[in-house]
Amino acid sequence: MPIPQALRGKLAAPVIGAPMFLVSFPPLVAALCKAGVVGTFPHVNARPAEQFEQWLTQLETELEQHRREHPDRPAAPFGVNLVVHRTNPRFQQDLETVVRHRVPLVLTSLGHPGEVVGRVHAYGGLVFSDVTNAAHARKAAQAGVDGLICVGGGAGGHAPTQSAFSLVREIREFWDGCLVLGGSINDGWQVRAAEMLGADFAYMGTRFIASRESAASEDYKRMLVESGVEDLVYTDRLSGIGCNFLKPSLARHGVDPATLPPKTPDLSVLTDTTAKVWRDLWTAGHGIATIHDVPSVAGIVARLAAEYRAACGRGPSAALAG
Ligand SMILES: Cc1cc2nc3c(=O)[nH]c(=O)nc-3n(C[C@H](O)[C@H](O)[C@H](O)COP(=O)(O)O)c2cc1C
Repeated sequence: MPIPQALRGKLAAPVIGAPMFLVSFPPLVAALCKAGVVGTFPHVNARPAEQFEQWLTQLETELEQHRREHPDRPAAPFGVNLVVHRTNPRFQQDLETVVRHRVPLVLTSLGHPGEVVGRVHAYGGLVFSDVTNAAHARKAAQAGVDGLICVGGGAGGHAPTQSAFSLVREIREFWDGCLVLGGSINDGWQVRAAEMLGADFAYMGTRFIASRESAASEDYKRMLVESGVEDLVYTDRLSGIGCNFLKPSLARHGVDPATLPPKTPDLSVLTDTTAKVWRDLWTAGHGIATIHDVPSVAGIVARLAAEYRAACGRGPSAALAG
C-alpha cells in the first residue's frame, strides 16, 4: 500500500500524532517529530492568527536544527490540521500561511478539501482528509487527497459509533491510496493491528495527552491515568456530534448530559456552570483503559516502537499448526 515518499525512511513507527484542540502545541509536535513519528496540531490552537506563523517558523527552525545535529535519526515531518468548514473565519488567511511555509502535511477536517488539495499540491505538499464514514471518504477521495484518515468508534474527540474493523474494510473496497486509522490506538501491538486491517499509519491522540510535553493540565493528565473506560460517557449533547467525555470532568462542573437537550449551545443557560467544552469538560478515547503513566513523548514512542517490532515478528497463529 502506498506510503508517500515524504514519509518514508524517517519514522520509528508508522504513527501520526493526531491533532488535538488545546493539547497539541509546538512542544508536543516537536517532541513527536524528534522521536520519529509525525507531529501535528490544529491551526486554531495558535491564537491570534499571527501566532500561527510564529509557531510554524519555530517548528521549522527547531526540527532543522535537530536534523543537523542528529543526521542518523532525522526528525519526522510535521503537519497542520486545517478546519475547512465555511464557518471558520481563519481558513483563508491560515491557508495562505500554510502555502507560504510549504507545510509538508496538511490534515483537513469538517469540510470539502478541494481548495486545499490544489494549493498544497502546487508546492509539493501532502493532503490527508479526516473522515468518519465511507460517504465522506468517497467525497474526499474524489477531491484528490493523498490520504484518508479514518477514525473509528472509541476515539477521543468527535467519534463515530462504527467500529474500525468495519470502517477500514468498507473504505478499502474503493480506496487503494494511503490510509490512516485512528481510535483507541495506544501501543505498538495496536499499530501493527491497524496495518493488518489494511491501514498504512496509525493515528494516535489520547495516549499523547498523557505525556510530559502535552499542553493539557496536570489535572487532565492525572484523570486519564486514574480513569477507566467506565468513566467515559459518549454523548452528542455537549458539542452536537458524538464524543467520549470523561465523567469526572463533567461531574465537577455539575454537568449531566442526560439532562441536556440536543446541541446544547451554551451550558451556562442550562446549568450554573461557566465550564466550556474542551477547556474544562475533557474528552478521551477508549485507549484510556491502558494509560497508567505520564512519560515523555520519547519514552512513549520508544516503547511503542519496540512493541511494534515484536508484533511484526509474530507469525501465524499456533492454532494453524498440525
Ligand atoms: C483532546 C482532543 C482534541 C481533539 N481535537 C481535534 C481537532 O482539533 N481536530 C481534529 O481533526 N481532531 C481532533 N481530535 C481527534 C484526534 O485528532 C483523533 O482523531 C483522535 O484523538 C484519535 O483517537 P484516540 O484519541 O482514541 O487516539 C481531538 C481529540 C482529542 C482527544
